Amino acid sequence: MTKVYVGMSADLVHPGHLNIIEHARRLGDEVIVGLLTDKAIASYKRLPFMSWEQRKTVVENIKGVTSVIPQETLDYVPNLRRIKPDYVVHGDDWKTGVQKETRQKIIEVLKEWNGQLVEVPYTEGISSTQLNKVLKEIGVTPEIRSKRLRRLLESKDIVRVMEAHNGLSALIVEQTQVSRDGRQEEFDALWISSLTQATAKAKPDNGFLDASTRIAALSEILDVTTKPIIYDGDSGGPAEHFVFTVRELERLGVSAIIIEDKVGLKKNSLFGTEVKQEQDSIENFCHKIASGKASQVTDNFMIIARIESLILEQGMDDAVARAKAYLKAGADGIMIHSRSKMFDEIKEFTKIYNQLPDRKPLVVVPSSYAYVTEEELVENNINMVIYANQLLRAAYPAMVKTARSILEHHRAKEASEEYCMSIREIINLIPGGKVIERK
Ligand code: SPV
Ligand code: MG
Repeated sequence: MTKVYVGMSADLVHPGHLNIIEHARRLGDEVIVGLLTDKAIASYKRLPFMSWEQRKTVVENIKGVTSVIPQETLDYVPNLRRIKPDYVVHGDDWKTGVQKETRQKIIEVLKEWNGQLVEVPYTEGISSTQLNKVLKEIGVTPEIRSKRLRRLLESKDIVRVMEAHNGLSALIVEQTQVSRDGRQEEFDALWISSLTQATAKAKPDNGFLDASTRIAALSEILDVTTKPIIYDGDSGGPAEHFVFTVRELERLGVSAIIIEDKVGLKKNSLFGTEVKQEQDSIENFCHKIASGKASQVTDNFMIIARIESLILEQGMDDAVARAKAYLKAGADGIMIHSRSKMFDEIKEFTKIYNQLPDRKPLVVVPSSYAYVTEEELVENNINMVIYANQLLRAAYPAMVKTARSILEHHRAKEASEEYCMSIREIINLIPGGKVIERK
């Protein structure tokens, strides 16, 4: 029996995949597909659209495939040592970039039993990147979008969330990508911040914006994005209101709401003890969490409880006691907030939190301790980072500079040239909708 091993993600299956499997079939009697798990894929590129089970169903029905097994890492070596295939087949488009090292390791390990790597020429004219772009243009349904946050939490070392306060800023979060160490980096999800939504409307972050106003802005964001959404629910209001908010957000396809354990007139947490802010009782807040959990329709939606004990200088013991109680009440995760300039107090909380037997995902918002890196958060087992306000904080000074320049020069030339995108860029920034041609 000649064994052939093919590693693939097979999210959007196209003729390129079929070509590789066809080559594998011609080389041997048994074609084993090592189907990369969500976790393995998320370690170097975006999470696939389809779950592992869905992808498996597709691949095992392709002509020539004998069996499908999980490949848990981008590195092929563990599966290859176990199977000892005569051939490994892969497309030839991985000699540079993030997979270069993976390829080299395969060549080395195959020498141990005289196996051979066969590289099939890349199929021109179709690629997953193109299909991915088209899928994004089609959009997403509420059901598919809402599930995605839980999948991201299960698959990624850390889920990276960026603030958006209107359609345009959301588009930036949806589309911005950079290439770093051969990987495509992008944001995983969007944060609908009360601070930046209120500020964008020139109102204080004190709860003046009512639910309908905030949901109207959310609707703009939903319209131009496909990534999961996490909604800043402030305190959630009374439990009697919170249950309706949960159902409304769930219906729209929002993945999670974060509510903070405060009562009374809302003040932004980053004021800390400079203003009067009152923390809710554990009992009351637990009742609100449990009411929210009882009112959601599906299992997808997440209610994340935000602890304000460190902000309000109530001490570490209080923060930990609250984490335990909120998890017991059914919270799907904990957000621990701090306005310290140092990461230390969050780190201290995290150490204790990570020991809890019923630990759920932990979320942080490094606004004041902005020096902390995602790598350091991962080392501390933190599961989600929210960049809560940076896009709006960047936009405002740029607009002020432009306004000042026009006043100083009595004309727009200097501002246009120094601070503005071109007219051509702005008119082409947002494409027109899809209108079919009239007969
Ligand atoms: C927000 O973005 O509105 C938040 C985070 O709630 S913070 O402003 O830090 O309180
Ligand atoms: Mg807020």
